[in-house]
Amino acid sequence: MLAVRFDRFGPPDVLDIGVTPEPHPGPGQIRIRVKAAGVSPVDLALRAGASPAGRNLALPHIPGVDAAGVVDEVGPDAAAHEGDEVFGVVPLAGLGGATAEFAILDFWTRKPGRLPWTEAGGAGTGVETATRALDLLELGEGMTVLVHGAAGGVGSIVVQLAAARGARVLGAARAESHPFLESLGIRPVILGQVDEPVDRALDVAGAGSLDDLIKITGSPDNVVTLADFEGPSKGVRLSMGRLAGQPDGRHGLAVAAALAEQGLFRVPVREVFPPRNAAAAHALAARSPRWGKVVIDVVY
Ligand SMILES: NC(=O)c1ccc[n+]([C@@H]2O[C@H](COP(=O)([O-])OP(=O)(O)OC[C@H]3O[C@@H](n4cnc5c(N)ncnc54)[C@H](OP(=O)(O)O)[C@@H]3O)[C@@H](O)[C@H]2O)c1
Repeated sequence: MLAVRFDRFGPPDVLDIGVTPEPHPGPGQIRIRVKAAGVSPVDLALRAGASPAGRNLALPHIPGVDAAGVVDEVGPDAAAHEGDEVFGVVPLAGLGGATAEFAILDFWTRKPGRLPWTEAGGAGTGVETATRALDLLELGEGMTVLVHGAAGGVGSIVVQLAAARGARVLGAARAESHPFLESLGIRPVILGQVDEPVDRALDVAGAGSLDDLIKITGSPDNVVTLADFEGPSKGVRLSMGRLAGQPDGRHGLAVAAALAEQGLFRVPVREVFPPRNAAAAHALAARSPRWGKVVIDVVY
């Protein structure tokens, strides 16, 4: 099969299209013919050789942890049928595999007709991560939550899922990103200017702002971070999911799909690139201001 891949670490232009063996699903997994795949920070870090998780990465490596497509092979005990239209997440232990003609999914849900392929392709890990973080925060109806890093790939998903839980959502981001957050129905704020009671805070930016978030919410118990490894030393929970032995948020995929079906959830897509322009996709994903997900439309 054809795949976007890299055989050495480096800048975006180490990505090329090559021929690589087709994968086959193991127990509980499915294989999809990929329609679209998201670009995530982990893909950029692995490609650059900057991720400790990538130390033992087998090269060539196919980036991409989120994908949407049509089921064409069903592994033993997997609840899916050939022809199902789905979106989901690749086996995370492999750290990639989505930007190819065929990809394995570890968990998935049916793609609603109303959710375009490009949006579904960028949804998987963002929805799983957002759900996990909101569960940890025990975010409920009527609470106010502040999301720092609200306009990025995960942030733009988490703010919508938080609002769907009945929370009042404040999205902290640079002023340039405020119209984008307003387009999602979210009240934008500048972190240093929050002057109202906030029950919970989620740090998606990993920008060294945990002390501010603790002060705003009154306690480290009210804060969760997805991106700041200093969190635990300040009493703030660092959510890493299944790979760290924590509960995951995969149940959120069906919730997001149901919301999308009702027109209450979308995956903001910043730009869509063909596989031959994967290097440009990685370069854009690294540039601020980030508004939603960069997606690769997997048609070779
Ligand atoms: N723990 C987990 O399980 C998990 C899962 C997925 C992702 N993550 C991590 O979560 C983070 C966000 O992921 P993502 O996909 O949303 O990334 P993304 O699309 O690149 O977005 C990053 C967001 O953080 C903001 N940001 C970055 N540095 C900032 C700073 N110094 N001050 C203020 N805002 C800043 C960005 O704002 P601008 O664009 O305006 O700079 C952007 O809104 C990444 O670090 C990623 O590795 C963790």
